[in-house]
Amino acid sequence: MQLDPRTLDPTSVYKLLISSVVPRPIAWVSSVDADGVRNLAPFSYFMAITDTPPTIAFSCSARETGKKDTLRNVEAVGEFVVNIVDDDCAERMNLSSGDYPADVDEFLVTRLTPVPSAVVTAPRVAEAPINMECRVVQILPVGKKAHLVLGEIVQWHVRDDVYDPKTGRLDMHALRPLGRLCGNLYSHIHQIFEMKRPNPDYRG
Ligand SMILES: Cc1cc2nc3c(=O)[nH]c(=O)nc-3n(C[C@H](O)[C@H](O)[C@H](O)COP(=O)(O)O)c2cc1C
Repeated sequence: MQLDPRTLDPTSVYKLLISSVVPRPIAWVSSVDADGVRNLAPFSYFMAITDTPPTIAFSCSARETGKKDTLRNVEAVGEFVVNIVDDDCAERMNLSSGDYPADVDEFLVTRLTPVPSAVVTAPRVAEAPINMECRVVQILPVGKKAHLVLGEIVQWHVRDDVYDPKTGRLDMHALRPLGRLCGNLYSHIHQIFEMKRPNPDYRG
């Protein structure tokens, strides 16, 4: 079967794309507006871009009514936190994705705990195993309705049981990150295997 996105309707293209690029990690983005009103929402158009300096990106699509609160906030304040979603946070992450008015604080809706960040004004989610405080590097309009937000990580918070000081890596079994598939489907990451690189001195 061949599918030409130029001849498909937008919903079909969306469904094809989000079921082709799987599983996706979820950036659970906390931010504040210029008046300090808190916001929390998940974004699975999310990736790491480079480690020098550590930089991530997520993409925020527009609603028919205009920009989403997260985009408005990161444009206005220039800072945000990416919280990583584990299995335990799945339902509250989903609840935070509701189309709430801008003055609604999703920390209150979800009963999650906002903790002050070390460097940025946006709070972080205490219940998340990893919080990455970010400063906006660039916001790029992409296509007809998306903005790609690039952020440099200026501070990490990692739950103690997840961090392995011997290797400097995070323990994937302790982390239990959630993956987004398509529709209402998600994946647990419970079957992990090792495969050595052909290059024997690889230390990632
Ligand atoms: C798992 C998951 C992933 C999502 N990924 C995205 C995304 O990548 N881009 C986007 O614009 N919306 C995405 N959404 C929808 C937003 O979370 C939703 O529109 C939310 O209300 C935006 O909140 P805000 O207006 O407070 O920024 C996702 C929702 C879920 C549940």
